[in-house]
Order: sequence, then C-alpha cells, then structure tokens
Amino acid sequence: MGKMWWQNSLSVGIDLIDNQHKQWIQYYNDTVEAVATQKSQAQVMKTLGFLIDYTGTHFATEEHHMAESKYPAMAEHKAKHDELRSTLAGLIKDFEEEGVTPELNKALETFLGNWLIQHIHEIDMKFGAYAKQEKIVIS
Ligand SMILES: [Fe+2]
Ligand SMILES: [Fe+2]
Repeated sequence: MGKMWWQNSLSVGIDLIDNQHKQWIQYYNDTVEAVATQKSQAQVMKTLGFLIDYTGTHFATEEHHMAESKYPAMAEHKAKHDELRSTLAGLIKDFEEEGVTPELNKALETFLGNWLIQHIHEIDMKFGAYAKQEKIVIS
C-alpha cells in the first residue's frame, strides 16, 4: 500500500475542499505508515480512527455546501459518500476482529486510496465546476 501525494490535477477549484482533500491525504499517509512499519494495533487503530473521522467531517462539509447551493446532482454524489461510509464501517469491524491482515492492507489501498482519487476526479470535480459556473462562493 503506497502513499499518495497531492497534485494540482486534483484541484476542484474550491480552496476549502482542496484543503480538506490535502488533509485527508495526510491522514491516509499516516495510516499507510503505521501499517507499513507494523505499529501496534492500538497505533494503527488510532491513525485509522483519525482518517475515518476526517472522512466523515469532509463528506459532511461537501454535503452541507451542495445542499446550500442547491446542487442538482447532490443525491448521486451523496450516494457515493454513503457507499464509502458503509465500507469504512466494515473495515473498522474487520480490523477490530482480525488486526492488520493482508486483506485489510489491500482494502485500505483499494477502498480508500483509489476510491478518493477516483471520487475527486469523477464526482467532486463536477461540484467544483457547478460552483464555478453558478458563481457560488464557498468558504
Ligand atoms: Fe465528495
Ligand atoms: Fe471530497
């Protein structure tokens, strides 16, 4: 499972959201580091906990601004967030029961790392474009 780095191509054009994505990547990398260096279960749990809490905060922020700006594709966007919310709940449960397994490692990379990048490119970008088009100021 590899670390991720912010790139300008990930910018959705809204500073608040870009900054949250950067912070999210930081928490993700902390989790990767904890898993890679085989930290204790408690330490991995702690980093994973930060990452998951922050995912919740971030999704809530996006959903708040989508609702405020009457974004027409909000339901579709929120459904994607809900899918990840349930995947994360499953990951935490597996981790609590089994610790860091190769499956967990893989799931972190697939469901979190790849998911986030793809979600930013395909879903968050559309909201960024809408906000720009409608001249909606988000801060
Ligand atoms: Fe999103
Ligand atoms: Fe996002």
